[in-house]
Amino acid sequence: MSTLVIVGTQWGDEGKGKITDFYAKKADAVVRFQGGNNAGHTVIVGENTYKFHMIPSGVICATPSYIANGMVIDPTALIAEIDAMKKGGLHTEYLYISNRAHIITPYHKLMDELNEVRLGKNKIGTTKKGIGPAYADKTNRNGIRVCDLYEPALLKEKVESNVSYINLLLTKIYDRPAIDAETIYQQLLADAKILRPYVCDVSLALDNLLKAGKNIVFEGAQGAMLDIDFGTYPYVTSSHPISGGATMGAGVSPKAIDYILGITKAYTTRVGEGPFPTELTDETGEFLRQQGHEFGTTTGRARRCGWFDAAVVRYAARLNGLTHIALTKLDTLTGLRTIQVCTHYELEGDVIDYFPASLTQLAQCKAIYETLEGWEEDITQVKTFEELPVNAQNYVKKLEALIDVPISIVSVGPERDSTIILDPIL
Ligand code: GDP
Ligand code: IMO
Ligand code: MG
Repeated sequence: MSTLVIVGTQWGDEGKGKITDFYAKKADAVVRFQGGNNAGHTVIVGENTYKFHMIPSGVICATPSYIANGMVIDPTALIAEIDAMKKGGLHTEYLYISNRAHIITPYHKLMDELNEVRLGKNKIGTTKKGIGPAYADKTNRNGIRVCDLYEPALLKEKVESNVSYINLLLTKIYDRPAIDAETIYQQLLADAKILRPYVCDVSLALDNLLKAGKNIVFEGAQGAMLDIDFGTYPYVTSSHPISGGATMGAGVSPKAIDYILGITKAYTTRVGEGPFPTELTDETGEFLRQQGHEFGTTTGRARRCGWFDAAVVRYAARLNGLTHIALTKLDTLTGLRTIQVCTHYELEGDVIDYFPASLTQLAQCKAIYETLEGWEEDITQVKTFEELPVNAQNYVKKLEALIDVPISIVSVGPERDSTIILDPIL
């Protein structure tokens, strides 16, 4: 039995979907443990491109796939995603949804949008999928859970109570029309009926798999820098994308985790607002965006691009306890004459070995760069590390030394087989 947690080590979109798909064929279960349809995981297999938001990327390999308690679920969006899976010829009979996961309702999406408008120039740049408001209700203890969908009287009471509060906000503060609780209740009942066959106690199911010695892959969404506690708060998401989130978010013991694989892009991107010390707003940033197709899977927004930031990834390595790294999108850097790497931050004249909590301090940090030689050769068909141009090898070795975690995979293209395996882990 082995378990592998896959996490993003930057600001998301590192290529977690592609690497999860790679491990899904060796796994008996793939589990998403946090986030919701703010995530967008693209997996390309041959002619087919799959885009997952809530459904684990394991479904392409027909590996049993679990939506665990730590996630927030938009039922209508999930049904649409299941329908898209069926149309794409994927099997849905091995999909499971935790009865403890929380529900995103239309009023969560509405509040997400209105919050962003209210914040104006200080907006977070959320995906407007209702993620923050749904997690806020969870911690405020008025959230609606999947199991509540099957107790109509309780569900009605909860929806009415929540909507009466939302309507106060809408009419008294936002000068908006009130919304109708009955419409939301009826939609939830209808969606609940469709989702019924998938609902189970995921934590218990995973415990049974662990006892039977099965391999489990946990697929993170977002990345360490979007973690609600350790990211660039408040420009973060509302869950724990770091490895600790996997045990709470799936209901398994920390003792059950064997390996933790950090997915790391060979440069850095970020969607939405917030600090980004190595951001490039010049033509090199545009080069990375075009060459790497850096446009969001969920919102279509152009991703901000910048140089690799070792201070960020070292921080992520520590928070996650990374045992391995998969370095992705190395091919995007092809054609750059020189490549810069941020090795450390300097704050008030000192090189620092911590990641500042204060955004004021972070803004004062100066990125210290080292310049490496680039390469011109197309590397997308390369199958072994030794076949890579020497400068590309040196780049990978430099990052490995800076992060101090072994790089076990180098990804050189979006397709399944554009993957150099140095250590298969499982
Ligand atoms: P995720 O959210 O971490 O799963 O990442 P996304 O799917 O949002 O973004 C990564 C994008 O890069 C997707 O479009 C992938 O198909 C693509 N991708 C993944 N690995 C590679 C790679 O090594 N090279 C290139 N060129 N594209 C990649
Ligand atoms: P994957 O799993 C990149 C960002 C949003 C915004 C912030 C908060 O594809 O890597 P939210 O809607 O979560 O309240 O938005 O987090 N964000 C992501 N950025 N990849 C993601 O997921 C993201 N999910 C949320 O852009 O800045
Ligand atoms: Mg993504």
